[in-house]
Amino acid sequence: MINIENLTVKYGGVIALDHLTLCITDDVVGLIGPNGAGKTTMTNAFSGFAPITAGHVVVDGMNLLALSPHKRACWGLARSFQKVQIADDLTVADHLRAVCDAKGIRQRDRTSQINHALDFTGIADCADMPGADLNPYQKRMTEIAKCLIGAPRIILLDEPGGGLSEAEMQDLRRIITQIKARFGAQIIMVDHDVDLIRDVCASTAVLDFGKLIAFGPTREVLQDEAVKTAYLGR
Ligand SMILES: Nc1ncnc2c1ncn2[C@@H]1O[C@H](COP(=O)(O)OP(=O)(O)OP(=O)(O)O)[C@@H](O)[C@H]1O
Ligand SMILES: [Mg+2]
Repeated sequence: MINIENLTVKYGGVIALDHLTLCITDDVVGLIGPNGAGKTTMTNAFSGFAPITAGHVVVDGMNLLALSPHKRACWGLARSFQKVQIADDLTVADHLRAVCDAKGIRQRDRTSQINHALDFTGIADCADMPGADLNPYQKRMTEIAKCLIGAPRIILLDEPGGGLSEAEMQDLRRIITQIKARFGAQIIMVDHDVDLIRDVCASTAVLDFGKLIAFGPTREVLQDEAVKTAYLGR
């Protein structure tokens, strides 16, 4: 269970996240809202990239935000980026080895963890390809594979479906829905693709101007009039 309490982030006069309070229990939870609503800011607040002025994120009785960003990662917080963070001159395997380094994974566990992540995301054939040669889908899968290293407990996916074809989205759906069973991590997923959110997220939270305007079972939330007005109608 992830308890977000009063989480607030300000950038100068902009309140990017406004006293967000939310209790997340489902295995895969959606986070939607219009452009600029604060979705990426929430993932940044979790992972230590946003200036938090108030609030807590409590997981299993522990305030995650009390840990340094590095310790959060070692504890089991992983995230992907809306704009993929793939270096042109590093191979897919290099990227995964770098995560092993950052998380202090023991040498004897590295190969099996890297292979597991590559096989699960279907990019084992790309292990030795440099980032520059990957297509957008392979880059997105590499971002997800990076999140699977080191026994993740919470994975934040920021628009994992961005730029993917419909066939690729089907693979993405299958992958996201199997992460909990195969790796044990709870997923919070940001995306603008309502079909993807409907298919994989048991519950969904909706932000608008940094405020929570709806939260509950995804199908109910997507029918909510305030949500349609704020998001779907625009
Ligand atoms: N580093 C920053 N410095 C200043 N303002 C920022 C910064 N990051 C985000 N903001 C502002 O905070 C608000 C929330 O931005 P955020 O990126 O979280 O939105 P989002 O919901 O992820 O939008 P999108 O769907 O376009 O990705 C916006 O008004 C944005 O301009
Ligand atoms: Mg964003």
